[in-house]
Amino acid sequence: MEESTVQSMEIAIRGVSKTFQDGTTALQPIDLQVAAGEVLVLLGPSGCGKSTLLRMIAGLEQPTAGRILIGDRDVTQLPPEKRGIGFVFQQYALFPTMTVEENIMFGMKLRKIGKQEQKAKLEELLALMNLTELRKRLPIQLSGGQQQRVAIARVLATDPMILLMDEPLTALDAKLKEHLRLELAQLFRKLHITTVYVTHDQTEAMAIADRIVVMNKGVIEQSGTPKEIYLKPKSSFVAQFVGQVNRLRAKVKTAERGNVLDLGFYQLPYKGESRAVADIDVFLRPEDVYLTQEAGFSARVQDVIFLGDHYRVIAESGGQKLVIDVGNDTLIHEGDQVQLEIREDKIIYA
Ligand SMILES: Nc1ncnc2c1ncn2[C@@H]1O[C@H](COP(=O)(O)OP(=O)(O)O)[C@@H](O)[C@H]1O
Ligand SMILES: [Mg+2]
Repeated sequence: MEESTVQSMEIAIRGVSKTFQDGTTALQPIDLQVAAGEVLVLLGPSGCGKSTLLRMIAGLEQPTAGRILIGDRDVTQLPPEKRGIGFVFQQYALFPTMTVEENIMFGMKLRKIGKQEQKAKLEELLALMNLTELRKRLPIQLSGGQQQRVAIARVLATDPMILLMDEPLTALDAKLKEHLRLELAQLFRKLHITTVYVTHDQTEAMAIADRIVVMNKGVIEQSGTPKEIYLKPKSSFVAQFVGQVNRLRAKVKTAERGNVLDLGFYQLPYKGESRAVADIDVFLRPEDVYLTQEAGFSARVQDVIFLGDHYRVIAESGGQKLVIDVGNDTLIHEGDQVQLEIREDKIIYA
């Protein structure tokens, strides 16, 4: 598809909160802006309020307080069909007696466009979603991944100004999920439609997002590009939820040339913000610890797990556990005594 002609809309969420009838508070008041054409991923554990927020943008749920704007239109009181949104759910919900093309055409028939235009749009969507060969099939003759591609095509057929997706890959098996995740990432780059995408899977979020909003217990923990979220997590929750990470106990100690971070097995200049001398936890990614031939610090290998493209090694030093990743051609065994180094500038003070 050529550069899309779709008019992208920004979304503004202002002080939106949700407490359900039974008293469950799913969302604390939230402020969030989604730029026109941006792919924003809401990421967080089950029950943190992602779907509730998405459903309120869609108009399927009414906020307890606050306002939602799409473009410069306040849509808070509008029903879903008046908001110009397309919603893709976890379950595909295709019409079982309609073929692939009939399912896609269904979305277009709701709009008043000419027969010629409909046909052209159908061909475009079949090609875009790699469905041309499958156009005459019924949903039951398709794999889960193919069905979800049809569901997405059907939603795109309605020319939504906003695309909302709630865990659209969750029902698929691991291999298919990985495949469709990359397809979706490419699709979004072509579409330029403002998209809010919900997932609890951080790998999926990384692959798809322009920006990730990490949620926990009804609040936003952090918002940033995938890189910012991974490299500069602002809280221990974000550090631990996104990617693998070592959590290390440390003491902040005073020394002549400024404070020192003492990990027990290793000391380095303290770069955190707090001035207090205290016990703290810091974080370090597995890729920021490495084997060395030189004098590093000594560690004992407790476990070696082969993961195909690398080994994940569990080591122990000074009573602390360290998970590290090493190349799959490394000679390393349980019980080995090894020398390790850490990339000091990669220590995360969250
Ligand atoms: N209709 C409802 N009535 C009462 N509580 C609800 C309802 N829908 C969701 N919740 C609760 O609100 C919280 C957030 O739910 P949800 O937004 O579905 O989380 P997520 O999508 O992040 O898994 C959860 O505690 C959930 O049990
Ligand atoms: Mg959900």
